[in-house]
Amino acid sequence: MKRVGILISGGGSNMVALVESMTGDHPARPAIVVSNVPGAGGLARAAALGIPTATVDHRPYGGDRAAFEAALGTALSEASPDLLCLAGFMRILSPDFTGAWAGRILNIHPSLLPKYPGLRTHARALEAGDAEAGCTVHEVTAALDAGPILGQARVPVLPGDTADALAARVLAMEHRLYPAVLRRFAACDRRPVYLPGPPQTPMTAR
Ligand code: GRF
Repeated sequence: MKRVGILISGGGSNMVALVESMTGDHPARPAIVVSNVPGAGGLARAAALGIPTATVDHRPYGGDRAAFEAALGTALSEASPDLLCLAGFMRILSPDFTGAWAGRILNIHPSLLPKYPGLRTHARALEAGDAEAGCTVHEVTAALDAGPILGQARVPVLPGDTADALAARVLAMEHRLYPAVLRRFAACDRRPVYLPGPPQTPMTAR
């Protein structure tokens, strides 16, 4: 049974979806939820679900990323996680940290990577006039939002969409995609997950 550490910075809706999915014959269980933001909404939600929580406030460390990550590692070691899931975690992790967790750390990003790494993903999709948007679960590597893709979910962009409306449509798919990917990844199954279905290539679209 794999033990999963989940890192959050905010409301933790993806964390809740992951925690609630890890039941029955699922090969993993939540071990700890850690936030870099004291009082983040996800901490109370995790506690309500009976999951141990910790807070490692990044602010006292200023620009000393290594010191923050050492404190983060100490908090995580309490629960001995086998895997890490970044779920709305808004700190960039150093190559030392991602290297130490290589092959064992996932992130969900609210765009169809490689399009729109970084921030403001929905606004950028709207500005570009994209017909569809979505989210990606990928392995975390030293390069931001650029690790091997383990799953993608697509949603239509609708006329009159605002960034908030599109974000809400994508978030609902995040809550389906991330648990589906984690279930496979925890079972050492690296076949990618595509929602609502495999990407249509010209050959198969006939
Ligand atoms: C989500 O859009 C996620 O893709 C991004 O952070 C947002 C909030 O996530 N990384 P959550 O509700 O805190 O899980």
